[in-house]
Amino acid sequence: MSAVPVIAIDGPSASGKGTVAQEVARQLGFHYLDSGALYRLVALAAMREGADLGDEARVAQIAGDLSARFEGAEVFLGDERVTDAIRTEACSIAASRVAGLPAVRRALLGRQRAARRAPGLVAEGRDMGSVVFPDAGLKVFLTASAEARAERRHKQLKEKGIAATLAALLQDLRDRDARDALRSVAPLKQSPGARLLDTTALSAGQAAALIVGWYRGANE
Ligand code: DC
Repeated sequence: MSAVPVIAIDGPSASGKGTVAQEVARQLGFHYLDSGALYRLVALAAMREGADLGDEARVAQIAGDLSARFEGAEVFLGDERVTDAIRTEACSIAASRVAGLPAVRRALLGRQRAARRAPGLVAEGRDMGSVVFPDAGLKVFLTASAEARAERRHKQLKEKGIAATLAALLQDLRDRDARDALRSVAPLKQSPGARLLDTTALSAGQAAALIVGWYRGANE
């Protein structure tokens, strides 16, 4: 029996991974894993419990006990809908801190691997191809220029009625990229065997179509 297929999509923040990965999953009829949401949920749960985010053992225990549920686009912590709460700036910063703790990453490993169910999985994050699913049949490193990513985020925020300057967003993305690339555990980098997909000049639909084409080309 062959293993359930996995498409691993990794890349920096605001590269459009989420939109692209969900579209690939939809077209192939595969399950979808947003691994970043798990780190965000751990951060939210830890903040709610008043835990010290630097207390690795305690945060890892919270990660191990996490009662997370995904229903379509909605995310739940226990019975509470936290879809918006995990996207706040405070939660983004806290998520980036807890993601730097090796014991937290280990505690989430089993949960991520359990998402690999027939007929297949599209997993999106920073270390899907390198750590969580090293045997993924297709690995994609999705990126875009910092300027393009800042512009996309600017547009998204504007649509939500949130004010932000392009220059501040660009600086924030560059800081975050540097933190993600330089951290000692599971730093963001293109893993060997991953195909580079630069979406600077592509729409999410075009990027998804390319990935589906690569997958089908190798499997059908
Ligand atoms: O993709 P995102 O912005 O929702 O991710 C939230 C945080 O979690 C971000 O700081 C990167 C980190 N992360 C990670 O370290 N490994 C993953 N597989 C996914 C996200």
